[in-house]
Amino acid sequence: MSLMEVSDLSVRFGRRGQRVVRAVDGVSFTVDSGEVVGLVGESGCGKSVTALAIMGLLPRTGSGVRVGGRATFDGMELLQLDQRSMRDIRGRDIAMVFQDPLSSLNPVVPIGIQVVEVLARHRGMSGDEARKEAASLLDRVGIPDPTRRLKEYPHQLSGGMRQRALIAMAVACQPRLLIADEPTTALDVTIQAQILELLKDLVRESGTALIMITHDLGVVAGLCDTINVLYAGKVVETAERRELFAKPRHPYTVGLLASIPRLDAVRGEKLTPIRGSVRDLLPWAEGCAFAPRCDRRVEECLGGTPALTDDRSGPVPHQRRPPDESALSGHRYRCVNPTPPGAVPTQETLEEVTP
Ligand SMILES: Nc1ncnc2c1ncn2[C@@H]1O[C@H](COP(=O)(O)OP(=O)(O)OP(=O)(O)O)[C@@H](O)[C@H]1O
Ligand code: SF4
Ligand SMILES: [Mg+2]
Repeated sequence: MSLMEVSDLSVRFGRRGQRVVRAVDGVSFTVDSGEVVGLVGESGCGKSVTALAIMGLLPRTGSGVRVGGRATFDGMELLQLDQRSMRDIRGRDIAMVFQDPLSSLNPVVPIGIQVVEVLARHRGMSGDEARKEAASLLDRVGIPDPTRRLKEYPHQLSGGMRQRALIAMAVACQPRLLIADEPTTALDVTIQAQILELLKDLVRESGTALIMITHDLGVVAGLCDTINVLYAGKVVETAERRELFAKPRHPYTVGLLASIPRLDAVRGEKLTPIRGSVRDLLPWAEGCAFAPRCDRRVEECLGGTPALTDDRSGPVPHQRRPPDESALSGHRYRCVNPTPPGAVPTQETLEEVTP
C-alpha cells in the first residue's frame, strides 16, 4: 500500500443558478514515502483544487462544493475525517506550501516566531535551540541575514522571501507528506534551483513524500520520480519521469515538452507554445477535451471521453470495452491517436534542461 492513494477524486463547484464546474474529474494517483510525484498542467487544469481537496481545505456543506472519490493517507480515509482530526493531520503528517504565500502567514506575528512555533509544536524544540534551528532553516531557503529577518513581519518581506519563509516552515514540520503548490514560480532562477535542491534533500534525508505541483515540466524534470499530466480536471498521461520525457504519447504532454526552454536550442530558435488556450475545451462527455487544440485529432476523438490505455492495450475506440485500469502499465495515457514514440526530442537532450 502506498503512503497516499488518491482514487477517482472529483470536485464539482455548483452554486445555484450557475454552471457546474467539474474542476477535478476522476483523478487517481499514488505517492510512496520518499517519492516525488508531479502534478503538471496549464492554469485552471485542477492542480490546486486537487491538493485542497486532499488537505480537506475546500469549503464543506452548503457551499455548492461536492467532493467525491477517495484519498487514503497511511490507511486513513481523509475525505471522511471530521475537521478536528483533519487539522491534527495537517501540520503533523501532511504540510502544504500554498501558491499564495501572503494568505498563509499570520500578518501580525514576526516570521521568526511563526517558525519557532512550528518547531515547538512539531519537534518539541524551545528557546535558543529553536531560534538557532529557525535561523538555519531560513538560511537554507536562501534568506540572507536570517537572524535579523526572524524579527520581521511578513509585510516587510518581498513576495519571494515570504514564499521561502513558508517553505522553511513546511520543512520545519518534517511532514511525512509535503504538497508544494507552484513553490518556485515567483522566484528567480538561482533561488528556484536552491529551493528545489532543498526539497530534494528533504526527500532524501527524511523519506518525506512530495507532491510537486507546477505548470512547468522543466521544473519537475530533475526532481520528480513520477509525473501526472492534467488537462481539464483529468489525468491525461502518467509515467515515470524518464519514460515520459523519452516517450511522451499524449499530444498535450508533447506540447508541454515543446514549450520548455532548452539549453541545446539553436540560437534564436523559438519555443513552440501549445496552440489555443485552456478555455478552448470540449466537455469530456462530448469527446477528448483537448480536441479543439489538438493537431492529431481524428473523428474517433469525439463522441465520448477517451479511456486510459497503455502501449500494450493500444488505442481504445468507443465501441471497444476500456481496459481494466488496474491492469495497465505505469505509463498510461488518455488518447485514441497518440503521438508515435520517437517523434519528439530524446531524453538525453532534455536532461540538459534539468535545473
Ligand atoms: N471556488 C471556486 N468556485 C468555482 N470554480 C472554481 C473555484 N476554485 C477553482 N475553480 C475552478 O476550478 C478549476 C481548477 O482550478 P485550479 O485552481 O485547481 O487550477 P490550477 O491548475 O491550480 O491553475 P493555476 O496554475 O492557475 O494555479 C478552474 O477552472 C477554476 O476556475
Ligand atoms: S484523443 Fe484525439 S484529440 Fe485527444 S489528444 Fe488524442 S488525438 Fe488529440
Ligand atoms: Mg493553482
